[in-house]
Amino acid sequence: MTMSVADRIFLRVNRFHTERVAVAWGGRHILHGRQPSPGDVVLTSNDYLALARVPHIVGAMCAALQNASEGAPPSGVFLHGPDHPQIVLEKTLADHMRAAAGILCQSGWDANAGLMQSIADSQTPVYVDHMAHMSLWHGAKTAGAPVYSFRHNFPGHLRDEIRKHGPGIIAVDSIYSTNGSRSPLTQICDVADETGSVLVVDESHSLGTDGPYGAGMVVALGLTDRVPFRVASLATAFAGRAGFVAANNIDFVDYFKMESDPAVFSAALRPHDIAGLGATLDVVRTDEWRRVRLREISAVVRRALMALEFDLEGSASHIVALQTGSDERTMAIRDFLEARGVFGSVLCWPVTAPERALLRFSLHAGLTDIQVDRLIQVCAEVRDTFGGMVPLRYEKPRPAPPPAQLVPTR
Ligand SMILES: Cc1ncc(COP(=O)(O)O)c(C=O)c1O
Repeated sequence: MTMSVADRIFLRVNRFHTERVAVAWGGRHILHGRQPSPGDVVLTSNDYLALARVPHIVGAMCAALQNASEGAPPSGVFLHGPDHPQIVLEKTLADHMRAAAGILCQSGWDANAGLMQSIADSQTPVYVDHMAHMSLWHGAKTAGAPVYSFRHNFPGHLRDEIRKHGPGIIAVDSIYSTNGSRSPLTQICDVADETGSVLVVDESHSLGTDGPYGAGMVVALGLTDRVPFRVASLATAFAGRAGFVAANNIDFVDYFKMESDPAVFSAALRPHDIAGLGATLDVVRTDEWRRVRLREISAVVRRALMALEFDLEGSASHIVALQTGSDERTMAIRDFLEARGVFGSVLCWPVTAPERALLRFSLHAGLTDIQVDRLIQVCAEVRDTFGGMVPLRYEKPRPAPPPAQLVPTR
């Protein structure tokens, strides 16, 4: 008997609930831990510069909401005129990143998927770092491009793949969101130049935190002329809800707005988003102390966790993750951390490979020294209880032996 389409869909839903929720997670959702209490160390947000509650930004958003005279257009493609706030912000952000032009998108996903979809095609191979963000893959596949993954941060493997399949589009993240490793961007640029390929760099985790005034890693490394396209989520250091595409060719803007599906077929950002992002850019540019503090904290945490013999998978940034392995071990470590007031993000399949889950700490400039010490202390307890490395087979830690009986002495 053949199954109906509805039954097949239900089977998939059912499989998720049985195989993952009931069996692997013991009836709980792996991503739903405790709610933090006041005073806990919460490292789950990507607000790296601690901007979410800055009065200048909140005030700008509130004023825009109160003064809004019109609804937002159904799509950004209709926006025009040099004085429109979104067009002005696109120019200001592009200048900030030392790019010729830029386009604001509704999210980082839309920026990446829309960019790849509008520059790739079935004749153009796309080479994506194995750990690059899913939206880049998604856009390339939507374009019908042949997509090849190359080994994480391995320009030699990228070069070999291009020799096999021909010049194409290379896509990397500047800082990888799962483990905080940095792309060897200068070497990747060399491969792009040698092979006649075009490079796309996703700066979601370096825009605002890296480079002069937070202009990003491409600017910091002096590579702006060699990277034709940069993309970024503005839901990270910009603490908003938007994305950005920076391009080295001013003519790209109108093309993108008509060719990228999310730009054409999805509603534009709202006036308060634009006002908030504009105010955020002011703070990002002026508050150098936030970047300095973030760098200090990140170096202290990385050094301490490496001294505890955690393998941080090459983290060289404000993103630091413990390798936790199986879902079961990950939940146990998450519960252990949360019971001690430290909250990180669980990353498991499909974000990581199966059985290669991570517990990620997104550090931020608002952390106090006491909170940083607490994080390190609790990680030391994790190491003592669960070990620093992922074991081949996970076994629950044995309960601590009961305290030795005190024999009363007279
Ligand atoms: C590297 C990278 N690119 C793009 C995105 C997508 O950004 P957004 O959340 O704004 O859609 C993310 C966020 O997960 C990311 O980490």
